[in-house]
Amino acid sequence: MIKFNYHNVGKDVIGQENGLDINQEFENHKDHIAQIINELYENKDQRGYWSKWMNSGYDEDTLWYINEFAAEVKDKYENMLVLGIGGSSLGGKTIAHATLKPYWNLLSTEQRKGYPRVFFVDNIDSDSINGLLDIIDLKKTLVNIITKSGDTTEIMAVYMIIKDRMKKECDDNYRESIVVTTDRNVGVLRQLASQEGYKAFEVPDDVGGRYSVFSSVGLLPFAVLGIDIKELLRGVRDMDALCQNRDIYQNIAAQNALIHYLMSIQKGKNITVFMPYSDRLKYLPDWFSQLWAESLGKERDWDGNKVNVGLTPLKAVGVTDQHSLLQLYNEGPNDKVIDFIKVEEFDTQLNIPNIFQYTGLGYLSGKSVNDLIHAEELSTTVSVTDYQKPNVTISIPKINEYYLGQLMYMLMMQTAITGALFNIDPFNQPGVEQSQNYVYALMGRVGYEESARILQEKVEV
Ligand code: PA5
Repeated sequence: MIKFNYHNVGKDVIGQENGLDINQEFENHKDHIAQIINELYENKDQRGYWSKWMNSGYDEDTLWYINEFAAEVKDKYENMLVLGIGGSSLGGKTIAHATLKPYWNLLSTEQRKGYPRVFFVDNIDSDSINGLLDIIDLKKTLVNIITKSGDTTEIMAVYMIIKDRMKKECDDNYRESIVVTTDRNVGVLRQLASQEGYKAFEVPDDVGGRYSVFSSVGLLPFAVLGIDIKELLRGVRDMDALCQNRDIYQNIAAQNALIHYLMSIQKGKNITVFMPYSDRLKYLPDWFSQLWAESLGKERDWDGNKVNVGLTPLKAVGVTDQHSLLQLYNEGPNDKVIDFIKVEEFDTQLNIPNIFQYTGLGYLSGKSVNDLIHAEELSTTVSVTDYQKPNVTISIPKINEYYLGQLMYMLMMQTAITGALFNIDPFNQPGVEQSQNYVYALMGRVGYEESARILQEKVEV
């Protein structure tokens, strides 16, 4: 299992002003934590609780259909395009980047064992979309459109462009190369899928985008790319078993949730630095940032009080960002909690050659890059602790599907528990929806005429 070390948040380590009396706090909050976990598990299947993501590890039917689809398309496509944004893209991007061989898209078909290259389209920049369309052959491309609402403007716009191109450039069967992942009832895309005859997968009811990576949202592209989704879900289940533990001393998701909550309310530390030491995990901070920010940044609590709470995520990658952000962590304001993610063992070993022994580089000669990254990770942990900056370390034995399943599920549970501690709803996103409505108004969507008029007045002022 992955491990969690919270030693460096203790007041005996970083001092009374910045640290917590962690044993006392676990004792003080253990009943409340047990109650939160109870409620999460008791309510997870209820409609409207948006907690059915807690069932993702156990959905054998979806797994079967997805594997069947992946087998059907194996060796058929050179490219896979994944159109989605926010929660419909970030988890997929994270796991694909972490588990596929580095520089995947530059490998030959044989090196990829017949699995396609993959391109995630999650923005509406005409330059990057045109650039992509210039280099891929749509006749050899599988397109997966992912949108829970089936309606998201940006993704619908890209879909319309690509569908139109496919119609012009591909043969009459081009619709077979479009597969959608969307809500089973609502949304324009669901309607279009049945009109056009696309193969369709469901985003399960009551699973929000940022909690959806282990549903068909992530599993479908993963399976098509040859990523081991069985192992991924085994990791999810094992972490779920651990997270069902009501006892805070046994539940690492609850421990980290409580630490971040107490650091916020007792010590005013509202920034969460999230820093994996691995290039292959470089999109994990993007996924985590959305999860943490969109789930916890809320205006109102469950009782309707205006609270404006939230923990601001700050993305970083070790060691790269040691040379850009570490100065701020060490010497800047003590308003952050740092979550280091340590990878214990890399897949490959890279030795530094035994040269230049008698120069200023002699200390590197004969060591390995693996030694170096471990030394840097440890030194950074010690140095931020010297500066009395609270930090925790989550260690994963290796980067593979099993441990990513564990890690990402743990972070989702941690977020849900933190939301409960703040007494806010971690599963909605009214702030995002407000801006989306303004987009509809500006783009002339029917039904948004009044918003367009109000918006126009505001813009003119
Ligand atoms: O987490 C969320 O709910 C959001 O980030 C959504 O995933 C994002 O807005 C995209 O929505 P949809 O999947 O409906 O296209």
